[in-house]
Amino acid sequence: LILVLDFGGQYTQLIARRIRDLNVYCEIEPHNSSIEKIKSKNPKGIVFSGGPSSVYGENAPTVDPAVYDLGIPVLGICYGMQLMTQQLQGKVVSAEQREYGRTRLRVTDCENLLKGLGPDEECWMSHGDRVEAVPPGFKVIASTELAPVAAMANEERKLFAVQFHPEVVHTPKGTEVLKSFLTDICGCSGSWNMGSFLEESVKDIRQRVGNRQVLCALSGGVDSSVAAVLVHRAVADNLTCVFVDHGLLRKDEARQVVDTFQNQFNIKLIHVDASERFLGKLKGVTDPEEKRKIIGNEFIRVFEEEAGKLGEIDFLVQGTLYPDVVESGTATAAVIKSHHNVGGLPEDMHFELVEPLRWLFKDEVRRLGEELGLPSDIVWRQPFPGPGLAVRILGEITREKLDILREADFVVTDEIKKAGLDREIWQYFAVLPSMRSVGVMGDGRTYAYAVVVRAVHSHDGMTADWYRIPYEVLAKISSRMVNEVNEVNRVVYDITSKPPGTIEWE
Ligand code: XMP
Repeated sequence: LILVLDFGGQYTQLIARRIRDLNVYCEIEPHNSSIEKIKSKNPKGIVFSGGPSSVYGENAPTVDPAVYDLGIPVLGICYGMQLMTQQLQGKVVSAEQREYGRTRLRVTDCENLLKGLGPDEECWMSHGDRVEAVPPGFKVIASTELAPVAAMANEERKLFAVQFHPEVVHTPKGTEVLKSFLTDICGCSGSWNMGSFLEESVKDIRQRVGNRQVLCALSGGVDSSVAAVLVHRAVADNLTCVFVDHGLLRKDEARQVVDTFQNQFNIKLIHVDASERFLGKLKGVTDPEEKRKIIGNEFIRVFEEEAGKLGEIDFLVQGTLYPDVVESGTATAAVIKSHHNVGGLPEDMHFELVEPLRWLFKDEVRRLGEELGLPSDIVWRQPFPGPGLAVRILGEITREKLDILREADFVVTDEIKKAGLDREIWQYFAVLPSMRSVGVMGDGRTYAYAVVVRAVHSHDGMTADWYRIPYEVLAKISSRMVNEVNEVNRVVYDITSKPPGTIEWE
């Protein structure tokens, strides 16, 4: 294990990604973790991330200097290098000139850390302060025009640092630097993979849960599906999944969930068909926030009722991912929409949590899903909002509109898949704005619904760009839509990015 200590840098997660890409397992911990905590993780190496602060700033983040005496190799990156310098009695100065972007790197020592590099390389810089004098026992191993110390090393104490960012793609040999640190300096074997993660997790979960009972709210989305199958592999029939079908799912979705989990994986699955109940509550409701709240509350109620019937339950599975763990505590954003998330279940129920994915990034969860043998339809499923199709139908939700939207959505997804774009586009779906327009079909007048096609490209759902679906694909979607879906006579394409639009329509 490699421990990345986070000093608030924008690339901290990227450092973790790069390390895992080199098949070395790593975790991120806050910079102020106690030395006991750090030792208890028994890391083979420690990386200090970058950060926005200056070591001279008020409340500048630091680390317990005892970390340098553990005998564990340390690599400081950017702010991490400045902090190491300051703590070990070198000299950091505020530079008059910031160094930012692609920079020529003169490598003076191609041993050890910079082994794979030539004398003249390119690197990515982003710093204000710079190291003026290395701490005693250190030597300069690289420099740039504005940074006399762009990298430094104390081989004896196994302390290394770089001012540039080896984790970003703009440092072409960055991976080499990380690799030298991990393999040569820390002695990592680079044999970590999803298979080993899977084995370890199963062992851990089994040990923790023992003979007790575990409950999982299954939505059919990637995260809860992978979590459920993983926990099932560990505890078999001690796991019960509850799948609340609120009647707002896509075409065939409920059937597929039951088929996969109950029939294929033999997981104890309680399928609650609560569509009547949800539609009843939603009758006459048109306000988007009110709809969301009703669905969220009702969901929890149904789930609690089902859980109550099961008797003693000790654990609840949650599909929390690593970015949520790392970023939690920073959210003070305005409420744009009240999100309903199957992962964010009941606040007042008293379970211990099992969060088997809390160390993984999304693409790693997908790899784990594949390793577990989940069908690719589930592993590669696009994000789908908790309130389902309810936030894609404007105005009142009725069975009729749901049926129309399900068929319309099917046409969009089917054509996107046929065009081979399904793994490329973040989300693609149909929206029913509940608006009718006049058309002509077979010599007759029609007065039917318009359907909106929405497709966006995004990394995290926070911002998004509308996806440029090729015209031929749009043409197919359009003609199939009006031919196959009754009650639809017009197709329009949403070309709004986020912001100012949101991805969903409500
Ligand atoms: P918006 O519409 O806010 O959506 O731009 C951003 C991303 O979040 C998804 N989404 C939800 N996911 N519960 C969820 O789990 C929700 O209530 C919810 N609402 C929106 C949306 O599909 C997009 O990926």
